[in-house]
Amino acid sequence: MPSSYNLPRLSREIILDTPYEKLSLQVAQAVAEEIRQKPNCNLGLPTGRTPIRCYELLSQWSQNKSLDWSQVKCFALDDYIDASEEISFSTYLQTHLYQAAGVCPDSQFNPRFADDYDGLIASHGGLDLTIIGIGRNGHIAFNEPGTQEASWTHCVWLAQSTIKDNFSQESALAIPKVAVTMGIQTIMNSKRLILIANGESKQAILHQALTGPISMEVPASILQKHPNLTVLADFPWK
Ligand code: PGA
Repeated sequence: MPSSYNLPRLSREIILDTPYEKLSLQVAQAVAEEIRQKPNCNLGLPTGRTPIRCYELLSQWSQNKSLDWSQVKCFALDDYIDASEEISFSTYLQTHLYQAAGVCPDSQFNPRFADDYDGLIASHGGLDLTIIGIGRNGHIAFNEPGTQEASWTHCVWLAQSTIKDNFSQESALAIPKVAVTMGIQTIMNSKRLILIANGESKQAILHQALTGPISMEVPASILQKHPNLTVLADFPWK
């Protein structure tokens, strides 16, 4: 199977077997291009291990003044509710991106602090580009298996598998059980989506999500319906 191909009918590009460094560069370039084309764009931003290098690159480009975030609005995909600030996604985005990029506090949005996150996103004109990861259980943001397809931003109990993937049981910090997340429809309403997957532990679930039936048992499978989706992974299909 080729490592890059366009599936028929849908304008989706799936780019596989791309080393993590190159994958991160491509995602960072897509974000930079979006900002240059639309300086007041609205971005949906993930946390986790996968986007770290992408954020490092964006931070570097911002610090050497080749990227201007002054009008960009950033919307975190999700966050824990019952966690210490130290491990919150606000802190993560602050540390990995916002500080270095100079995203002003008024342009940093997080579903933890919004009564109506979807209304807020809509009032800014909707998400232009959203970057998402995929969990080993097929979640996107914290839309765990069994989430309603018709969901908007909502609170969730985290799946045990997600807690296991994100925290070691020896962690000195209280392990969160509850989160707030953009819903399936919030994500699907983004004009463009880029999904990034890093590490072979994501291989089987990504394959299932993109080639299997669309089912909320694998929330990422809904992405098959998105008209403007790019997928980047650092592994080949099996
Ligand atoms: P990861 O998380 O980037 O830490 O693998 C992705 C996800 O669970 O969505």
